Amino acid sequence: MRIPLDREDGQPLYRQISGYIRRGILAGSLVPESRLPAVRALSRDLGVNRITVETAYAELEAEGLVDMRVGSGTFVLPSYVQSEICPARRIWPDWQGMLREHMSGLSFPDLESDPEVVRFNSGLGDSRFFPMDEFRKVMRDVLRRQGTEALESGDVRGHEPLRRNIASILGSQGVQVGAGNILITSGTQQSLSFAAIALLRAGDTVVVESPTYAGALDMFRSMGVKLAPVPMDEHGMQVGRLEALFREHAPKLIYTIPNFQNPTGACMSGPRRRRLVALAAQHGIPVFEDDYVGDLRYEGLAQPTLKSLDTCGNVLYGSSFSKMLMPGLRVGYLVADGPAYDALAEIKRVHSLATSSLLQCAVHEYVSVGRYAAYLRKSRQIYRVRRDAMLEGAKRHLSGVKIAPCTGGLACWMELPEGVSCTELRKYALKERVDFTPGPRVYPYPAQGESFMRLNFAAHSRETTGEGLQRLGRAMEKAAG
Ligand SMILES: Cc1ncc(COP(=O)(O)O)c(C=O)c1O
Repeated sequence: MRIPLDREDGQPLYRQISGYIRRGILAGSLVPESRLPAVRALSRDLGVNRITVETAYAELEAEGLVDMRVGSGTFVLPSYVQSEICPARRIWPDWQGMLREHMSGLSFPDLESDPEVVRFNSGLGDSRFFPMDEFRKVMRDVLRRQGTEALESGDVRGHEPLRRNIASILGSQGVQVGAGNILITSGTQQSLSFAAIALLRAGDTVVVESPTYAGALDMFRSMGVKLAPVPMDEHGMQVGRLEALFREHAPKLIYTIPNFQNPTGACMSGPRRRRLVALAAQHGIPVFEDDYVGDLRYEGLAQPTLKSLDTCGNVLYGSSFSKMLMPGLRVGYLVADGPAYDALAEIKRVHSLATSSLLQCAVHEYVSVGRYAAYLRKSRQIYRVRRDAMLEGAKRHLSGVKIAPCTGGLACWMELPEGVSCTELRKYALKERVDFTPGPRVYPYPAQGESFMRLNFAAHSRETTGEGLQRLGRAMEKAAG
């Protein structure tokens, strides 16, 4: 342990030692049950008398922060003992209080840890299907073949071969771009965040679908940006309402999820896509197209991406390998043209320097040899069966609930019967050990979401979904009174 001691300071050395260790324990860097250095070793390392170290440890023990065990050493005590003994830790400086207030409107997800709870509130697929063996092999190959190159910081725009690869995947979907239009990011969330940094200032207005992805709402709120909601229907954002909003709010950005919109599952119709792209270009308002699960389609025809309809560089397109491969990869991409691309690359440099080279190389390797396409095919098959289980189970167990069309993605959107509020329902649901995403979390004006809930099907087997829906059915009967 390297404790900086100041021998010119009037403070006794033992106090400096105990103060340093105390700060480490309270900050959590010295975790409970970790062993402090032996008195003899620390006194030698610091060039102080053994009694100095013993006195420091004795002081910490008297405060209840450590336990000196005869014959085995001095150990940090568990934190519940510390918080009882050091209530001062809970008196935060003023700036911390202000921070808490500033972030208070955000919808932190609940960290429900009870394994018995059926978590229909997940936003992800099923980790049991991750291609672990193949990915392990890919990582090994990358390290062996690319050596240190895979561990260098790399090009801020991202690993060139991966960018070329993504350009050709996008080309097959009608988006004609080159590697020079692609900026690798650590996911769609970061792409959106970079776009917001480039285009928005506190007090500006952004057009959002209502309801929409909670993570986007949180990000915009954290920047002090105003939200101008456009209602959704089964054909996506109600684009016909945009011009009035443009006149009223002069927005600086339009954020949309045209495919399997989160949370409604709606796909924007072809005519609306064309109208949106044309209107936005005419008014000079940039569009951020979030295509987070565009490839997880179970039926129906794919509509063109907004980016493929964009002829003047007005659309920024974001997607990633999170939902369609593995969420922990944190490799995504942002597509942009012209000065917008340069500005976004610069923002990336300023805010994050680079994306992990190792992971980019591994994703490139995995995607190039066709494994990705095969994995996508398999995921679609599995998730389609799970979607069907959700639709059948919901019809059977959730009487009076209206289920929105669900042709892709990871979750279903449902409207509750009249008189049932989702906040009330969730209280009963948690008692029954089942959870869901409550509507208010995904609405720009939360009160509007009280009649809705989103249920993930992709993360659960048919059996778990059936069991979870039975529990939810019981909760609904109680909530309906
Ligand atoms: C609509 C939408 N966009 C973006 C994200 C974030 O995706 P990523 O993991 O690529 O950052 C999510 C995650 O749930 C999402 O639902």
